Amino acid sequence: MQANELRARCFAAGPRPMTLWSGRFREPPADVLWQYTVDHTDRRMLVDDVVGSIAHVTMLGESGLLSEDERDKILKGLNGIKAEAETKAFDFQDSDEDIHSAVERRLGELIGPVAAKLHTARSRNDQIALDIRLYLRRAAASRISQLEGFVSVMADLAGEAGDTVVPSYTHMQQAQAVPLAHHLLAYAWMALRDADRFTDVKGRLAVSPLGAGAGGGSSLPIDPARSAELLGMTGTFENSMDAVASRDLVAEYTFCCAQAMVHMSRLAEEMVLWASAEFGWVTFADRHTTGSSAMPQKKNPDIAELARGKAASVIGHLTAVMALQKGLPLTYNRDLQEDKATVFAADDTLAATLDALSSMLASAEFHPPPPGSGVTALDLAEALVGRGVPFRQAHEAVGALVAALTEAGRDLSDATAADLEEAHERFEVEDLARTDPADSVGRRVSPGGGSFADVAIQIAAIRLRVGDGVS
Ligand code: ARG
Repeated sequence: MQANELRARCFAAGPRPMTLWSGRFREPPADVLWQYTVDHTDRRMLVDDVVGSIAHVTMLGESGLLSEDERDKILKGLNGIKAEAETKAFDFQDSDEDIHSAVERRLGELIGPVAAKLHTARSRNDQIALDIRLYLRRAAASRISQLEGFVSVMADLAGEAGDTVVPSYTHMQQAQAVPLAHHLLAYAWMALRDADRFTDVKGRLAVSPLGAGAGGGSSLPIDPARSAELLGMTGTFENSMDAVASRDLVAEYTFCCAQAMVHMSRLAEEMVLWASAEFGWVTFADRHTTGSSAMPQKKNPDIAELARGKAASVIGHLTAVMALQKGLPLTYNRDLQEDKATVFAADDTLAATLDALSSMLASAEFHPPPPGSGVTALDLAEALVGRGVPFRQAHEAVGALVAALTEAGRDLSDATAADLEEAHERFEVEDLARTDPADSVGRRVSPGGGSFADVAIQIAAIRLRVGDGVS
């Protein structure tokens, strides 16, 4: 069979794939090849792909590589596709190999043969590297705003917690008394750093790889700095091979998702614990909990459990994107297509988790029981330190007091003046007041240490950061 005949059979009619590379081939792609290699995950980057092409074509026009008429026709077609993308009217076809092919196919339908000039001085290698950067920059902005929304919820809860005091824990044993608000705000600060990380990676993503071509630049007089500028990027690549081969920023973005998910997972774990009968610290609204098909009394914190579970998947995505890069010779390899499904899954999971957890938390009612007096042991030791007793001796004395009381089935709140006197000569009767957990928080003076005044400062600082205004 003649090549022409074959090509006619492959590409003329029917659902046969329309590839951007048919010239070299004498037979059509096998179904198995198509099914295995084509991944429509990239369709969500349609707007980004078109925006990148608009900048590219504008640059080509300015560089004299397209006539004004050609440029205008192509730009008109691309703007039409952009409008279709924005209104979700773009008609994808199974025969589109990828997002780039889909756009080029549609451009041809809209403007005819001049569409064939779109890909001048460009490769899908620099194009895909650009698309993912543009997409992730948009996604980062969304995640930052969601994280700030979460932080706002935590600040509200902290404000509502007032002077409620809880034990902090180390080794899952009651440690020091702290305001419940201080505990909740710890997660707000974590989320603010998560938002900062997205801001950082967003900055690094603002470097355009367009103009790197297939990986070795172009013999045509293109101006990558101009297309970068048109895209509102801060700069362009120094090395075309690095530009098309690297996916460290995709990995970094995935890490941002994974770390934020890990923070959400720790919070989720605490919510699960706190909602248990054993803790009894929190109740979530009925609408944010689920029931049991078997046990009528159950009210389960499924959102929190799934946030914890989904963190595992996102950690897996991070591992995947790291492993994806490790054995790849420069420059582009098709393996890199896998980065999209991976980073999108991580990002989608974080987005859904932030929405669900923020909403569940906003419905929370906290009612923790007061901590045991054991959480004031350090305060007793500090009473002695205040009188010049070396901390190590003070620690020993209070430790011995706790041991003696425990043996007698008592706790620190049961201590008498005689107990104190026996524990250390420098104790004074007034120190008995220190065994009240609320009093313990009241004495806290170290910056960031969770005194009530300090918590108020944190809330104000957080509200300022997320634009809630200082209340
Ligand atoms: N679908 C590809 C990806 O996601 C697009 C780039 C294809 N480039 C190529 N030379 N086949 O990486």
